[in-house]
Amino acid sequence: MREIASEWILKFHSILCLSAVCPGTENKLSTLSDLDQQYRTLKKLYENCEVVMGNLEITSIDRNRNLSFLKSIREVTGYVLVALNQFDYLPLENLRIIRGTKLYEGRYSLAIFLNYRRDGYYGLRQLGLRNLTEILNGGVYVDQNKYLCHADTIHWRDIIKNPQAELLVVPSNNSNLGLSQTFKMCSAFSWWAVTKTVCAEQCDGRCFGPYVSDCCHRECAGGCSGPKDTDCFACTNFNDSGACVTQCPQPFVYNPTSFQMEHNPRAKYTYGAFCVKKCPHNFVVDHSSCVRACPSNKMEVEENRIKMCTPCTNICPKGKTHCGEFVLVTLV
Ligand SMILES: *[C@@H]1O[C@H](CO)[C@@H](O)[C@H](O)[C@H]1NC(C)=O
Ligand SMILES: *[C@@H]1O[C@H](CO)[C@@H](O)[C@H](O)[C@H]1NC(C)=O
Ligand SMILES: *[C@@H]1O[C@H](CO)[C@@H](O)[C@H](O)[C@H]1NC(C)=O
Ligand SMILES: *[C@@H]1O[C@H](CO)[C@@H](O)[C@H](O)[C@H]1NC(C)=O
Repeated sequence: MREIASEWILKFHSILCLSAVCPGTENKLSTLSDLDQQYRTLKKLYENCEVVMGNLEITSIDRNRNLSFLKSIREVTGYVLVALNQFDYLPLENLRIIRGTKLYEGRYSLAIFLNYRRDGYYGLRQLGLRNLTEILNGGVYVDQNKYLCHADTIHWRDIIKNPQAELLVVPSNNSNLGLSQTFKMCSAFSWWAVTKTVCAEQCDGRCFGPYVSDCCHRECAGGCSGPKDTDCFACTNFNDSGACVTQCPQPFVYNPTSFQMEHNPRAKYTYGAFCVKKCPHNFVVDHSSCVRACPSNKMEVEENRIKMCTPCTNICPKGKTHCGEFVLVTLV
């Protein structure tokens, strides 16, 4: 069963992992009993991946694994779960934004817990989340990481967008090691502090300097290097060829002189947080979005080599609403 499940992961990886986008997982804490396989699966899933469309779950990885492949990840659309691991450094150095479209335990966008070995002197010591500046939805949970340094000194509230989101960060109890030992252990790591630059009052989000002219474009997430919609570190809504936009270019636009809706030759489809000219293989067009399957009142029809969802005139024929089965990747 487990073998089959991990095969599925790889299969979907090859289907969905177009360029630097890859699917995530939804396994929570269930893991493979074979730790080698657990590591290999993680590596297969995320090597060269930049955008995780789903949840990034890093669980039950043992001590001396090379996790440097995680550095390619810049964005996670779901949640990030880091639990039951024994490695000392989490190299998600380029992770800029967690969207939290799905939350762990219905509350957390980032959950980091139980990362140490009970009968050993090792475990997670440092979070390499150097570039994490935006959590768009959900809160943060950090607890029971016996050796973790400084997690409680991060300005989480600056990173979490929703002021009502739950923040539960329990400092690790290094006290039993004695103060000087703790200091030695933790000061070995250089520390960064994520702080929101003090922005001018007129900025409604973030800024790249203290003046009114230094506000980021309102479509930016996580900061920017200049004032334009192309200067954002990440997009709050959609990335249209490098520019952050509220909405992808729509198939029809209103012409105010002719009072008519006109076909827009520059139209794009919505695919996750991206605007694309064509939906990826195995996705269907519904309105102006790429979806995995048509809704139940629509059926899949191919027109001009594009698979589209069109409303059924009567009852939808069974089995025609799906474009290829999508199986939830679950390890049991
Ligand atoms: C870890 O893997 C990367 C390539 O993925 C390699 O460049 C690096 O040297 C490896 N580090 C160690 C300590 O083996
Ligand atoms: C983090 O983001 C900055 C841009 O602000 C970039 O220059 C840097 O390479 C990124 N990665 C790390 C590991 O700091
Ligand atoms: C921290 O560890 C000490 C010694 O092991 C223990 O007495 C104390 O109750 C612990 N505190 C917390 C908050 O767990
Ligand atoms: C937008 O997507 C392009 C190509 O996928 C990428 O190079 C760029 O960094 C992205 N921009 C933002 C702000 O996320």
